[in-house]
Order: sequence, then C-alpha cells, then structure tokens
Amino acid sequence: MKILVLGSGAREHAIITALLAEEASHEIIAAPGNAGIAADVPVIHLDPTNPTVVTDFAVDNDIELVVIGPEAPLVEGVADRIRRSGIAVFGPGKAAAQLEGSKTFAKRIMEAASVPTGRATRAGTLDEAIAAMDEYGAPHVIKADGLAAGKGVLVTGDRDAAVAHAEFYLKQGSVLVEEFLDGQEVSLFLLSDGHNVLPLSPAQDYKRLLDADAGPNTGGMGAYSPLPWLPDSFVDEVIDTIALPTVRQLAEEQTPFIGLLYCGLIVTERGIRVIEFNARFGDPETQVVLPRLKTPLSELLFAAATGGLGGKPRPEFSTDACVTVVLASEGYPETPITGRPITGIADALEIEGVTIAHAATAASGGGFVSSGGRVLSVVARGADFADARDRAYRAMKLITLEGGQFRTDIAARVVAS
Ligand code: AMP
Ligand code: GLY
Repeated sequence: MKILVLGSGAREHAIITALLAEEASHEIIAAPGNAGIAADVPVIHLDPTNPTVVTDFAVDNDIELVVIGPEAPLVEGVADRIRRSGIAVFGPGKAAAQLEGSKTFAKRIMEAASVPTGRATRAGTLDEAIAAMDEYGAPHVIKADGLAAGKGVLVTGDRDAAVAHAEFYLKQGSVLVEEFLDGQEVSLFLLSDGHNVLPLSPAQDYKRLLDADAGPNTGGMGAYSPLPWLPDSFVDEVIDTIALPTVRQLAEEQTPFIGLLYCGLIVTERGIRVIEFNARFGDPETQVVLPRLKTPLSELLFAAATGGLGGKPRPEFSTDACVTVVLASEGYPETPITGRPITGIADALEIEGVTIAHAATAASGGGFVSSGGRVLSVVARGADFADARDRAYRAMKLITLEGGQFRTDIAARVVAS
C-alpha cells in the first residue's frame, strides 16, 4: 500500500517502523518527518497542517492511506479535506478532534454519554476559578481549555501557584478547574471507524520530568507496556463504559470519530475515570505499544479509515515487555537548548531488542544534532521488564547529548513488584 504519514516526532517514527516491519512491503512517505525518519523512508517537506497542500500531494502521488500523527493537522481539518477527496485517512475530522482540542467539548460529550470522569468547572474569571478550587479542595488541578502541548495543566498542592496558573491562562481564554483524581494512570488506545472500536494494549506514561514523579509536566518522559498489574476485565470495562459510549455520542451528533481514540485514564478507588481524551496516538506510549503488535498495523489503520472494523478480531500482542526512555534537551520543557551533537546511536542499536525513535533530531555532518525538546526515544523489548529496562538503560548510556536529561525510573515499579 502507498501510505503517507504526517508528523515529525518519535510517535511517527514508531508508526513507520511498525509499518516497515510488516510482511507486506509498503511504499511509505513521511511529511515532514525528521532526520531519523529520513534514514528509513523518503520525506517530503510540506506543511502537515495545511489541508489543501496535504490533499493535493496525496492525490497527485496516488496515496492510498494517509495516517495523521499529531493533533495540530486534525484540529485544522486536514482529515476532512483528504476524506472529501476520496482517499482513506486515519484521523478524525475537525469537529470530532475537538475531543482533544477543547477540554470543555470533551467534558460535554462525556456528560452526554455518561462516561465516568472527575467533576470539573469551566471558569472565565479568576473569581470563578478560585471558587471552584476552594470547592474541590487541594491538590488543585487547573487546565488551559485549548491545546497547550502538555504545558497547560498544573496539578499542585500550592494554592498560590494554582491561582497564578489560572490567571496566566485566563488571559488566553477560559480554564478548567478539576477535582483531583488519585490513582494509577493508564493510556488505552482504541482504533475507531466511527462506530466500532478495537483496543490496543494498555501502556503507562511518565508525564513528569524527574524521577519519582517530581518536576513539571512534560509531553511524556517514558512509558512501558503491557501493564501486568491491571485486572483482566480492564479493557472490556473501558470499551463498555467509556470508548463505545463516546464514539456513539459523536456519531449521533454527526461528528463520527475515525482514528485513534486515546483514553487517558486514572484507576481510582471508586473506579476508572477519564482524565482526558486525545484524538491521536500518544507519545511516548506508541513507542511501547506498536513494537508488541502482531497484527499488521496497516490493515488495522485502513480498516478503521474505511468503516471496516465491525466483526474484526481484536489486535494481537506479543507477551514481551517493552520500555521506552525519552532523552530530552537541557532546559526542557521550558527553554530547550538545541543544535547539540548526539553521538552513540549506532552503538546503542547494536544492543539486542533496541530501536531508536527519533523526535527532534536533524542531520549534520554525517551525524545528528538536537533540534527540539524531546530529542529521541530509546525503545527496548525484552522477555520481561528487568530485561527490557536493562537494555533500554544500557542503550541510553551509550548515547551522548550535552546537558541531556532522562528519567532513570521508567518501569522500575513493575520490576520491583
Ligand atoms: P492532561 O493534559 O489533562 O492529560 O493532564 C496532564 C497530567 O496531569 C495527567 O497525565 C495527570 O498526571 C495529571 N492530571 C490531569 N488531570 C488530573 C486530575 N483531575 N487529577 C489528577 N491528576 C490529573
Ligand atoms: N503521552 C501523552 C500524550 O501523548 O498526550
């Protein structure tokens, strides 16, 4: 199949790696990609958020399936435009992508579909925000309402910091004040064709910058999959109480969700609760979910894009453990320092079970330099988590980036238990 993958992060590199690993040989093009992706497939320098530019390229090049990686093209309506041209596209249209693009929209859909989530209040003024904070009590959860690349959320016991965060984001629009939900976080990805869903394997993301979940929220510093501590009934429960009701509600509102429904969940003492939906694969969770997928990814994405998931068996996964550790630049997440050489990637790849998903890398003088905050994901598979962790951290030690930051405790809790 001729497939166009939009995006330039480690998630897209992981998607491309999974497509290339299939028995069927595909012709894959990435736009705009990055230096690591360019080493694997041809890349095209076009603006992935421009609906006309992307659609014209897809039509002119006989693309059979477009896979949209990041959220930005989705909220710009790139999927709608491609779908109108008759090309299969994996990714929701602009209206359904509001599930990620607007936290208020997501809360309304959850309410309409009776999906379990925490209490939340939308505040347009500081007085309203403070009243809601005091109603829910500490720790305080304050979120910017629009897309904020993981930076709009503050969870803190410090009331003054919460007030300052609300004040900052109120200048840009409304904020959401939420009830704090206590428990383990789970990311569950479901493929949706607008009516039917199929689950992938659960993963856990580490959102904070530093070990032991200290430091600021980031786009994600590491992940592992599967989650051996989850009850067997977990995935069925999420499908029945969260994913299907959400997809049905969106279909009823004439905004069918075709693509990847990312359920960001917390397992509380009172049951599973949604903290957020995303409208695309998660990063870095994709890096640990797709290497374990045994069912051909292209078949799943194409079936979802063309209304064909009904009656299909659930995707199969290997029982291997998979761990990913993100290497970030000095200064990330606030002001990443870029342009520094990265060495040791080839040595790291020598370790059995290790792959590298590039994110913010650029080619320079035959090697790579950093070009953004999250630079790359070291991905390691192993027979168990001790094995996968050992491989991931041995590989990370071989890679050098001046000032580079990474967490040392990814998946440590599953090895210890
Ligand atoms: P979000 O961007 O909504 O996923 O929030 C980022 C992170 O903040 C989540 O992954 C959680 O770790 C944390 N978080 C968000 N909302 C809540 C909540 N209501 N209760 C506890 N933690 C939360
Ligand atoms: N890992 C969090 C996200 O992709 O939003």
